[in-house]
Amino acid sequence: MDPNDEGFDLDIFRAASKDLWEDHAKWWQTNFTNGADPEYEEQIIPMAVDEVERLGIRAILDLGVGDGQISRAIRRRLANQVTVVGIDPAIMQLQSALERGGIDMLVRGEAKELPFGPESFDAVVACLVFEHVIEFELAISEVARVLKPGGHFLFFLNHPLLQTPGSGFIDDVELAEQYWRIGPYLKEDLSFEEVAKDVFIPFVHRPLSRYINQMASKGLFVEKMEEPAPPQGFVDKAWEYKFVREIPRLLYLCARKGLS
Ligand SMILES: C[S@@+](CC[C@H](N)C(=O)[O-])C[C@H]1O[C@@H](n2cnc3c(N)ncnc32)[C@H](O)[C@@H]1O
Repeated sequence: MDPNDEGFDLDIFRAASKDLWEDHAKWWQTNFTNGADPEYEEQIIPMAVDEVERLGIRAILDLGVGDGQISRAIRRRLANQVTVVGIDPAIMQLQSALERGGIDMLVRGEAKELPFGPESFDAVVACLVFEHVIEFELAISEVARVLKPGGHFLFFLNHPLLQTPGSGFIDDVELAEQYWRIGPYLKEDLSFEEVAKDVFIPFVHRPLSRYINQMASKGLFVEKMEEPAPPQGFVDKAWEYKFVREIPRLLYLCARKGLS
């Protein structure tokens, strides 16, 4: 759905989005946390923890903390050298994060209105969250506000260029070739994707430039970008994945808040 289409109701999309994360938190936890997902285990979690260690970060906000797997992994590596605060709108995620432990403070709230004072954190980590955030401009403004000068925004996203709605592997039998279809990259898109039977998750697609430009307008400048190849554990999941070894699924940006 294009948000500019006639008849599109943003309020309905917003309300449903919240409920769906609440309803499907268990699905997410079962399939993507606690060692269940090779992309998290082999790639996303190690990258996030390495970055926190590399940058010598101490006070961290885990934005869209989910059940807390990123925060817990940071805590396992860096123990009491770090303070980790997690925020998420879904009670079912926060409850699981609380039960699994290892996080200093858990708060219910949304990215567009962070209940923290200015310059509270050395870093904000957002891991596969902004593709579910509708008011992303407000959210990025909030990230900039709560970061200390010189602080870092560690931003992990499903690669918006290569994992566009409608993208996917094509096996063209007639032409005897395989390729990756990109889909309508420039069009902003809000959708409920059926990720498993009867499990609908809200997704928002927007071109990469929208994120980068919003960050820059709030004084967050990209220092590092990574587009890693899918990890072996993912490639091994299905025969056709070997054809997409060179198509990144993940995008990582490390942006720094200016000092003045
Ligand atoms: C794909 S999960 C990722 C969880 C965690 N970051 C991880 O990597 O394990 C996305 C999380 O974003 C949260 N979320 C959705 N909309 C949000 C918003 N507007 N503000 C903050 N978090 C949001 C969801 O409740 C969910 O826990």
